[in-house]
Amino acid sequence: MRVGRLAGAVALCVLLFAQGPAAEERRIVLAASAGLSETGFLGYLLPRFSLKTGIRVTPTVLEEGIQVDVVLGPADVVRDGRAAFRGGKTVYAVRVAEGGAADPAHAKRFVDWLLSKVGQRTVESYRANGRQAYLAAAGAKTKKARARPTGDLARGEKLSFLHCGRCHVIGPRNRMGGLGSTPSFALLKTLNDWELRFRGFYLLNPHPSFTQIPDTTEPFDESRPPPIVPLEITLEDLDAIMAYVATIEPAKLGAVRAR
Ligand code: HEC
Repeated sequence: MRVGRLAGAVALCVLLFAQGPAAEERRIVLAASAGLSETGFLGYLLPRFSLKTGIRVTPTVLEEGIQVDVVLGPADVVRDGRAAFRGGKTVYAVRVAEGGAADPAHAKRFVDWLLSKVGQRTVESYRANGRQAYLAAAGAKTKKARARPTGDLARGEKLSFLHCGRCHVIGPRNRMGGLGSTPSFALLKTLNDWELRFRGFYLLNPHPSFTQIPDTTEPFDESRPPPIVPLEITLEDLDAIMAYVATIEPAKLGAVRAR
């Protein structure tokens, strides 16, 4: 009897051990742009994929330093992604992330599913306040990633000081400006993926709450007006800012970790 129970316990342990890692592998982390994360859309979409495939998807907001398996967001932010659907004028793209923790086959499965007939139908069947929110767009063309900043450098400098210099130290001219805890542009330039971060800065906190870019950001929620003077720029302005930021010398950090 005792032996039997022990054997049972051992068998259970073996079972748990055998299942543990396997169960964990069937899980992916998906980073979505803030606009998508704030609606009920992912809560609608992801369980339907999980039901079909047994792969659980943990959604998170696209931001720095997190290891994710799939990225989903506006096509101008998710570079080299494949068009998945359209919401208003925005085309949303999806792709498998580099360096994810999960089995890339699971990440690819999600991308394939989203772009499949079933996935596209699922996207179209989502209703926000009784209305269809997204249209199928699998196979639509996305703009090719630009290799070099094409913006107007001098304009970019002016715009950087004007809009970003309220909080960020941009260069010697506003060395004493900026807000204490806000990273300087030179510090941000030390990050390998600075280009990605600047390109999508309006998705990264704290900017979404006060930044408006026509045809790109969602309009402010009227019940929650921005807490500070809004930052209003166009995508062309951002190109110009990127061109200027490209010329900023990265800070020399020694062993200090950025941020
Ligand atoms: C109202 C203040 C404010 C303004 C205006 C502002 N930023 Fe920021 N920004 C911040 C703060 C604060 C952080 C640091 C956030 C953190 O550490 O989580 C930040 C971080 C960033 C980052 C790094 C984001 C990340 O998570 O990696 C980038 C890139 C950036 N800002 C670009 C810009 C650009 C470009 C502009 C102007 C067009 C701008 N910011 C205007 C406050 C501001």
